[in-house]
Amino acid sequence: MADKSFLTDIKTLRERARKHIEQGAITEGYKGDRETVVKILNEALATEIVCVLRYKRHYFMASGINAESVAQEFLQHANEEQQHADQIAARIVQLKGEPNFNPDGLTTRSHAEYVEGENLVDMIKEDLVAERIAIDSYREMISYLGNDDPTTRRMMEGILAMEEEHADDLVSLLEEMGA
Ligand SMILES: [Fe+2]
Ligand SMILES: [Fe+2]
Repeated sequence: MADKSFLTDIKTLRERARKHIEQGAITEGYKGDRETVVKILNEALATEIVCVLRYKRHYFMASGINAESVAQEFLQHANEEQQHADQIAARIVQLKGEPNFNPDGLTTRSHAEYVEGENLVDMIKEDLVAERIAIDSYREMISYLGNDDPTTRRMMEGILAMEEEHADDLVSLLEEMGA
């Protein structure tokens, strides 16, 4: 028979779940350092918001210079970054934290930067740099989370995969433009 002694017995699990029910999804078995997890999630939230703003700026500027296909790519990325921001904010609340949407200090909390870019190629390059920053910092968050908070880790893994797709899209755009 397999050794299952590392599992908590059902009676203890049931008793623990009844205590502190106001904590919602946060049970006694939650292994994460909640404050740190909320803090790094707020940095990821700021990163996503800055990325939304930058992609929106690029979308409207590219539309103005008749670069429709590139503009559409910027818009799609802006919308996806917005979805990431919403997912992250929802998780912060689930962890009994508060999502920081304060515009003061936003660019300091964000890992990625807000750069407007002089022309289309500049814009794409700046977006690519920002994606690469997000990719590195999210990868770090994921390894920090490890098995202590698998839900947050899985969410960040999903977001990371999309940032990698974004970076890939931008490289293709640069290649198409011969830049
Ligand atoms: Fe994102
Ligand atoms: Fe992205």
